[in-house]
Amino acid sequence: MEPPVLPPWEQFRAARPAEKARWLRTPTGRPYHVLFAQQFDRPFLDRLCETATRTRRIAKTKGGRMFLQSLLPDQRAMLYFAQPSTRTFLSFYTACQIVGLRPAEVRDTHTSSEFKGESPEDSVRTFSSYVDLIIMRHPEQGFAERIAWLLSTTERSVPVINAGSGKDEHPTQALLDVYTLQRSFARRGGIEGKTVVFVGDLLRGRTVRSLAQVLVLYPGVRLIFCAPAPLQIADDILEVLRTAGVPHETTEDFEYAVAAADAVYMTRLQDEWDVAGESRQIPTERFRFEERHLQLLRPDGIVMHPLPRRHEIAVEVDRDPRAMYWRQVRNGMWIRVALILTMFGREGEIHQYYEELVR
Ligand code: NCD
Repeated sequence: MEPPVLPPWEQFRAARPAEKARWLRTPTGRPYHVLFAQQFDRPFLDRLCETATRTRRIAKTKGGRMFLQSLLPDQRAMLYFAQPSTRTFLSFYTACQIVGLRPAEVRDTHTSSEFKGESPEDSVRTFSSYVDLIIMRHPEQGFAERIAWLLSTTERSVPVINAGSGKDEHPTQALLDVYTLQRSFARRGGIEGKTVVFVGDLLRGRTVRSLAQVLVLYPGVRLIFCAPAPLQIADDILEVLRTAGVPHETTEDFEYAVAAADAVYMTRLQDEWDVAGESRQIPTERFRFEERHLQLLRPDGIVMHPLPRRHEIAVEVDRDPRAMYWRQVRNGMWIRVALILTMFGREGEIHQYYEELVR
């Protein structure tokens, strides 16, 4: 895979997202690094969702599973997760296995040389000596971007996937969320024209930030941000929406928001970012999805959550067919399979195999 040539760091860091996105693509237009949500465009998203759906169809037979396994057995990936993770880690891990790509992992930096004082930058550079892809989660905002740039200045640049950085970005969660929305609304004309309501800690929830920025690509989408004032969505996201001409509003009225929604996207309190336990002062009970709220939700509406959940969705809601969060978990694995295949230029073979399968 031919790595793109990146400009000097200051120029790269300061560039507008659209400009930066161009640098992250290979000469043939595939994403080389996946770092932030604004680097995706509609043709990419539509194709990726199609690849994911066809891959899971192929995986229904043993022959299909063997074919998938044969795609990338000569490649290795490092999963470097310096922050807790269940679903993102496991879905990437299993996605690698599905296409035969062999994963290695560092999840606890106490077990690596970082414990001996090695910088995270040196750690990642070490990984790049052994593997062909780095999938990383890190508490520092912009870290994945810095690493991608750093590796591009070395002799062994490898692609970097941002699996969650700081309070800032979680681009592959946005991919699985879009995939879930698209599947859920397939018989209702797709995501276009739908109202998506975000609820909870919108200020510090990176999944909301990434998804909101991707939804600007779907004409007619309206966004409602429902949160207690101290946790309301940040101005930089509102600015993106204003620039893109996406109708949006902020509210504290949970009942109103649920009734207006095609999709309600619930999130947990991100109190790991508290400095002095300040979240405890914020009343969040009014923003809890209980069984009674199902009556307010449209019959063809859906409830989403990136998980993990705490108390913001009552477990009774899980039984309702409109609860999509456990499907999101599964969709996350397939969309990551599709992403890896696309990055390695192998998704064409999925479409070929599929065409033969359904002929
Ligand atoms: C999210 C994350 O890590 O940002 N989890 C996930 O990847 N599904 C959401 C969260 O931790 O609240």
